[in-house]
Amino acid sequence: MIKKLYSEAFFRRFGFLTVYSIFFLIFVGGWVRVTGSGMGCPDWPKCFDQWVPPTDVSELPEDYRTRFASPGKPVAEFNVVHTWTEYVNRLVGVLIGIFIAITMVSSFQFRKTEPRITAYAVLSFLLVGFQGWIGKVVVDKNLAGWMVTIHMLIALLVVGLVMLSVFRRHRLHHAISHKITLRNLSMLALLITLIQITSGTQVRERVDEVMLLHLAPDWIAYAGSLLTGHIVLSVLVFALSMLLAFMGYRSFKSEKIMKRVLTATLLCTAIQIISGIANRWMELPAIAQMSHILFGTLISGGWFYLWMVLNRKIASQEAL
Ligand code: HEM
Repeated sequence: MIKKLYSEAFFRRFGFLTVYSIFFLIFVGGWVRVTGSGMGCPDWPKCFDQWVPPTDVSELPEDYRTRFASPGKPVAEFNVVHTWTEYVNRLVGVLIGIFIAITMVSSFQFRKTEPRITAYAVLSFLLVGFQGWIGKVVVDKNLAGWMVTIHMLIALLVVGLVMLSVFRRHRLHHAISHKITLRNLSMLALLITLIQITSGTQVRERVDEVMLLHLAPDWIAYAGSLLTGHIVLSVLVFALSMLLAFMGYRSFKSEKIMKRVLTATLLCTAIQIISGIANRWMELPAIAQMSHILFGTLISGGWFYLWMVLNRKIASQEAL
């Protein structure tokens, strides 16, 4: 078992799984939100002060709505679906924390040969602990909007660190034309996407407020210039993607993985824009809300991967 954990093949495969599973967790987070289950558990880490939450209101004390309430944070009527959705979200979160811990332990095999692989894995593990604490703050502060944004940015940082560790050996095989320009453009696309994600979570905060105040039909007016800015910026994201597509396909030629990642990122961008349009003009359909959160984060992962590989020496240079 220990021998397997310390093999390079295990690290590579399990690391892959860990990267994918973090995106899955982001997707589950979107599901929690769409079903309105975010406050399904009033406390943290326990749920109604239990490790396994109740399935029926009769299992709760009669005064549960006052007992678990904190200032400015009333407790909603018990809803088994909301409670268990939030609980499953937490379980998936713990599982991914364990995945990251296993990746970190496996990365110790490189501590002497390639200490950076270990350093990034350890950092990602520490950050996940911090993220868990932030999760508690999100619950305590009744999902304050800026907390949701910080939570999202930390999740992306964790993905970035795990990718830096797990994909440490990913390099171009041959020299390509316009490598530096492509590298810089990928970084620009990443930065603009991160700004776009931040602006998106601010729009989302407004949407959440409107739903809380039961002003649903007015959500577009309430989101105001935040939503307009978000849509305008998406034009820039789209233009940059087109430029990267035009240059990337010409340069990558035999670099199959780079081509695949570029294609996947462009596809995610197209889906993101379609789901954004559906959100804006079709009154926030649940499927569009859920895919908008997932694909937005996948786009940032795609640009980051391209930048990371383009920022390294090509394999043949490394061997010299
Ligand atoms: C490629 C560009 C885009 C990115 C990276 C992006 C990213 C995001 C993100 C991360 C959120 C927050 C989701 C959440 O926390 O649940 C969001 C919300 C939102 N975005 Fe975008 N977005 C993009 C394009 C668009 C476009 C083109 C539109 C409209 C035409 C749009 C409309 C919206 C709306 C209405 C929300 C609020 C949705 C909700 O509350 O569930 N977005 N965006």
